[in-house]
Amino acid sequence: MESKDNKQIILTGDRPTGRLHLGHYVGSLKRRVELQNSGKFDQINILIADDQALTDNADNPGKIRDNIINVVLDYLSAGLDPAKTTICVQSQLPALHALTFYYMNMVTTARLSRNPTVKAEMQLRGFSDEGLPAGFFTYPVSQCADITAFDATVVPVGEDQLPMIEQAREIVERFNRIYGDTLVLPKAMIPENEFQRRLPGIDGKAKMSKSLGNCIYLSDDAKTVKKQVNGKMFTDPTHLRIEDPGHTEGNVVFTYLDAFATDEHFVEFLPEYANLEELKEHYRRGGLGDGTCKKFLINVLNELLDPIRAERAKWAADIDSVYDIILEGTKTAQERTNAVLARVQSAMRIDYFKDRSIVKEWEELLKKQA
Ligand code: TRP
Repeated sequence: MESKDNKQIILTGDRPTGRLHLGHYVGSLKRRVELQNSGKFDQINILIADDQALTDNADNPGKIRDNIINVVLDYLSAGLDPAKTTICVQSQLPALHALTFYYMNMVTTARLSRNPTVKAEMQLRGFSDEGLPAGFFTYPVSQCADITAFDATVVPVGEDQLPMIEQAREIVERFNRIYGDTLVLPKAMIPENEFQRRLPGIDGKAKMSKSLGNCIYLSDDAKTVKKQVNGKMFTDPTHLRIEDPGHTEGNVVFTYLDAFATDEHFVEFLPEYANLEELKEHYRRGGLGDGTCKKFLINVLNELLDPIRAERAKWAADIDSVYDIILEGTKTAQERTNAVLARVQSAMRIDYFKDRSIVKEWEELLKKQA
């Protein structure tokens, strides 16, 4: 079905494996806050996917446990509001585990082997077929459980997650064909701005990643941001002297400005230019130094991060309240996901103990068999 009771419901999530960085912010967090405040959705759920994180961190559960608080603090400081958004913890939602087990039968191992995201992540982690944990291999199935357990209509994600949503849709279609129209068919929603879809690392490498040390974290202080931009952002190697003409394409300072700078930033920090296009033109023409561009970028980033830092400090001083937020969110999520599990088990006719009606059914059957 397109939706349950005509409700527009969002579900998305993150693996708690580290603090969130600017790539997460432009690629998803900022959008979630906008969606939350748009008033267009009946329900918004954000899942801290600790079970999914364990599929490739089974030997290091402490890392996941530690990072739950980091991720929640990042959520709250970026503007997710627990009064409007349900923040919950995956491992504490047993309905998800049950759904995953049923959905395993809705997909073949051949289909899972073709999932491009899993393939890419396997390569990144150096998993061979031999060393591949079955839990990691099948996590797209569990992600389908995450999504469908909330009757989600919309799943805001980064582009790299599109194969997951595709996989989920196939499972939903198969389930509904076999057991009747039970599950909501979800749709992916990806960032509109192409620069925000894939923010490269500050070293220009394709992605921000903790192991490459090429991230700017939402929790970084102003000094760190300055150090990272000045020290790690390469510009245009052919732009040696200020008067040389420069390239803005493939120049990571400009890639970041594309993602973050607004015309208002120019008014505030660099009024000699009306907008980014004018700045780029000057750079291409020659006569504009990298230092000016970097300084502007540092100002832009700090203006974005300052209020986030302030909020983070506030919440960090009151972890008791943060605990209550995820406890309450998880309780709400338990109700929601248990209801969907009950519906699924009814559709599958495995709700034996729902009422005693099966007693009559079995009695009739035995009479017929006699
Ligand atoms: N796989 C997602 C990621 O790595 C995290 C995630 C888990 C998720 N469950 C989800 C995203 C459900 C969207 C919907 O970023």
